Amino acid sequence: MNILAIESSCDDTAAAVVRNGRTVLSNCVSSQIEMHTIYGGVVPEIASRKHVEVISALTEQAVADAGLTKMELDAIAVTYAPGLIGAVLVGVNFAKGAALALDRPLIPVHHVRGHIAANYITHPDLEPPFVCLCVSGGTTAIVDVQSYTEMSILGSTRDDAAGECFDKVARVLGIGYPGGGPMDKLAQGGDDQKYVLPVAHVSGAELDLSFSGLKTASLNLIHNAQQKGEPLNLPDFAASFGRAVSDCLIPRVMSAAQRAGYGKIAVAGGVAANSRIRADLQSACGRSGDQLFLPELKYCGDNAAMIGCQGFYEFQAGRTAGWDLNAYATRDISLG
Ligand code: KG4
Repeated sequence: MNILAIESSCDDTAAAVVRNGRTVLSNCVSSQIEMHTIYGGVVPEIASRKHVEVISALTEQAVADAGLTKMELDAIAVTYAPGLIGAVLVGVNFAKGAALALDRPLIPVHHVRGHIAANYITHPDLEPPFVCLCVSGGTTAIVDVQSYTEMSILGSTRDDAAGECFDKVARVLGIGYPGGGPMDKLAQGGDDQKYVLPVAHVSGAELDLSFSGLKTASLNLIHNAQQKGEPLNLPDFAASFGRAVSDCLIPRVMSAAQRAGYGKIAVAGGVAANSRIRADLQSACGRSGDQLFLPELKYCGDNAAMIGCQGFYEFQAGRTAGWDLNAYATRDISLG
């Protein structure tokens, strides 16, 4: 089954063709980063307009790269939630048009379910159940993936997402947007014990997370140093920050995995590219005996291949949408 997948939930327009859920025939991404960089973050209206400009040509490209004709596509999958509402709407409406024109089923896909499915592309043998740490710019949650289409949240952030925290701190340091990648690079060789940063504990909810305290403490530390004219050692600070994020995430996902008892842990989302988090998870799983599944770096950030992959399993579970499919800015992952 060849699925054409469309993703436009934030600042990447993406189109891909995926065969039988696991084989990526093409994967095209058009990034808008340059356009949003001058504002230090994504401007929703600009994102929507740019999606409109490129989505048609990008989709043609994805079909051509797959070596198929449009009539060889069997279904259209699209991210319909969560995301920037105007941006998601562009993809949803385009996918509806394509499905109508080709007379093919339309499959709605939850963006975070797509991130989780990126692991199926990298690891052909991975099957649910497993516990997945989902960490991106908009989401930070520990998900119980009971089956390909049944999922529930075991713990989630009470405030900021981890990626958002990376981005805000990087912006104040003036090291670029989005900030996770540059912070990760900067941290290489830095002393992660140099700066003391808080790791939040949510009392009474051991699997929940919080990053707003870390963000505020980091921003205060940076501003204090600037006001006093004291130099901040950037590699040491980035390494200390990375350690604090990792120290918040890893014990909770390990504890969730122990409770679930599946023996399998996966990671998903843009922050899954972080070298410190990947290394710490590898060590923790080495100690616990859990099998660890990390997506390839190219499938960590937003892409449409992951949507085509998850779309296949949603279709198999009988989930298709009518022409009344709407876009949602927020939606619980358990609802699909
Ligand atoms: O999954 P994604 O592309 O978009 C969302 O669905 O949110 O994630 C983007 C986030 C950004 O916050 C970015 O700074 C972060 O992923 N990110 C990283 C790294 N690469 C990207 N964070 C930490 N370390 C990285 N290497």
